[in-house]
Amino acid sequence: MDVFEAIDSRISCRAFLDRPVDQKIVRDLLQRAARAASGGNLQSWNVYALTGAPLAAFKKIVVGRIANEDPRHTKSEYPIYPDPMFGAYKERREDHGIQLYGSLGIDRNDAAARLVQYKKNFEFFDAPVALFLTIDRRLGPGQWADLGGYIHALAFLARGYGLDTCPQEAWARLYDTVGDFIKIPSNQMLFCGMAIGYGDRKHKANDFRSPRAELHEFCTFFGFD
Ligand SMILES: Cc1cc2nc3c(=O)[nH]c(=O)nc-3n(C[C@H](O)[C@H](O)[C@H](O)COP(=O)(O)O)c2cc1C
Repeated sequence: MDVFEAIDSRISCRAFLDRPVDQKIVRDLLQRAARAASGGNLQSWNVYALTGAPLAAFKKIVVGRIANEDPRHTKSEYPIYPDPMFGAYKERREDHGIQLYGSLGIDRNDAAARLVQYKKNFEFFDAPVALFLTIDRRLGPGQWADLGGYIHALAFLARGYGLDTCPQEAWARLYDTVGDFIKIPSNQMLFCGMAIGYGDRKHKANDFRSPRAELHEFCTFFGFD
């Protein structure tokens, strides 16, 4: 798979096959993704990787925690989105919801079914490998951007092994439960989780292509024809 195909075929995968991932591959991906660039080569990423029994034990704790909670309204440590949302960003987020829930056949007004789907985040969409990505709280926007670079390097490299991923900021809402389990040091903050596995590409949750703005909408050219 070349780099163009790796980027083009990456999706945020929300349904995984019941197929284990070779642990050597996971370690290789985590190491190779660290070739991502970072300002001053600070390499701001910290990764916690879970699989097997620890992942199952953690998911059990989470199921108990969210049984009577709507985590969509649980406050994260950092503001995931601006409040209020505005302009094109608001529209795109809404469109994303329409596309995802539409593909799953979940009615816009079916609040209960939407919540059930959202809660699948906290099962890592049944992926066999789960990551948490944290960053030192003293680092700033530049280093948060670098962490995003690491996450994307990982997502693209995963395609090289035929694997799928889903970055999950939803986990930031359960930062306390995550922190207690993986023992995040107090100087680190949870940015997001990430599901890794072999995607069920035929599943409705994965059966759509998210749109993108046209080049002229986000790029201003100077000196180009
Ligand atoms: C940092 C980050 C956090 C995200 N968090 C979630 C999440 O919590 N749950 C989820 O289902 N998708 C999550 N996504 C996936 C986005 O919804 C997705 O990237 C976007 O809709 C574009 O679709 P695509 O990734 O399939 O191209 C996240 C993506 C990024 C980059």
